[in-house]
Amino acid sequence: MAEFEIQFESGAVQVEIAPGKLDAMLGRHASCSEAHGFAIIADENVAKLFGRRCIEAIGGASKKSALIKHAPGEPAKNLKTVDCIYRGMFKASADRSWEAIAIGGGVTGDLAGFAASTYMRGIPYVQVPTTLLAQADSCIGGKVGVNHPKAGKNMIGLFSQPVKVIIDPATVLSMPRREFLSGFAEIIKHGIIMDGDFFSEIERRAKGLASGNVEYLASAVERSVRIKAGIAAGDEMERGKRALLNLGHTIGHAIEASSPPGAVLHGEAVSVGICAAAILGRKYAGLDAADMKRIGKALGKFSLPVSWPRAADPARAAAAIARDKKFRHGKARIVLPECIGRARIVEDFPLQELIGFVRDFSVSG
Ligand SMILES: NC(=O)c1ccc[n+]([C@@H]2O[C@H](COP(=O)([O-])OP(=O)(O)OC[C@H]3O[C@@H](n4cnc5c(N)ncnc54)[C@H](O)[C@@H]3O)[C@@H](O)[C@H]2O)c1
Repeated sequence: MAEFEIQFESGAVQVEIAPGKLDAMLGRHASCSEAHGFAIIADENVAKLFGRRCIEAIGGASKKSALIKHAPGEPAKNLKTVDCIYRGMFKASADRSWEAIAIGGGVTGDLAGFAASTYMRGIPYVQVPTTLLAQADSCIGGKVGVNHPKAGKNMIGLFSQPVKVIIDPATVLSMPRREFLSGFAEIIKHGIIMDGDFFSEIERRAKGLASGNVEYLASAVERSVRIKAGIAAGDEMERGKRALLNLGHTIGHAIEASSPPGAVLHGEAVSVGICAAAILGRKYAGLDAADMKRIGKALGKFSLPVSWPRAADPARAAAAIARDKKFRHGKARIVLPECIGRARIVEDFPLQELIGFVRDFSVSG
């Protein structure tokens, strides 16, 4: 079991990681918390898997709770779902003495964190991630929010830290295989940008990790959390080096935006984006050929795609990059690996060159 604190400018976040101890950690949190009630927010799948266990753990601490369910998946990550969550909280008579528990994947973490942070001007919330992506990445850093049909992905939201993050790495074992494996893209990303030893450990343990060795998973999740926390805590509002965490995401997002919904999973798109960044890193950031090969090979060990996915339309992907509101005056901000364990933020990459690269990469892979 690991227990540590992340100190953000806006406050401290407690982290607990213990395989197989979901109920005990929730129960302990409920009895120590000053909250009078808990709004347990989960999508329908997660509610089926873990809803009763949450209610019982909180009930065992003699605290009341209400289970609020929402539709699963990225299409539900919108303001309409947030409104349903508000209504569920009103119905349960949740007031400012309550706390929210966001249990599930990144979609629930982002949605429920946003709902909790805005309900009655904000009530505390706890992240209980149950997908590998959510455990290794999205539960940390306090970015919460929803997609908007006009503004785009994650464009409505805020920075709001949870009071606690409770991680039981064994919960991910019920995930569908492809979803589970896609979570390794973000874990590998953390190794590339910050920690070469961690990257080597992932390479060595790939077989065990991919087959769900809980001890290995707990260790990989903890190191990922510590890497993300180390970067995000120093730059909570993403004004500087937090952008390193976007390695693989510029082209990854373009792949997601240019594919039919659900055809390419987030982690799969990031995997391809990381490979593209490695090629660019080789050309512009001094990444050597051996490291470039290792990156592709490591992703491949988790059956992650390393070339342009057939489902993604290159022209639409290029258009998505050209439209990106973050890129101004013909310059793009991209992250390039310099070696395994170190990456650099390039603030003024020529946008047209990036678009041209995407076109070439989508053909050559
Ligand atoms: N806030 C951040 O910093 C951050 C970072 C990265 C990604 N994200 C967001 O995370 C989201 C993706 O998260 P995700 O991949 O976890 O998707 P998700 O939340 O949609 O979960 C994927 C699927 O797995 C199911 N599921 C969850 N836990 C399960 C379990 N233990 N067993 C079986 N099924 C389970 C869910 O019901 C869902 O159908 C995206 O919206 C992305 O924008 C946020």
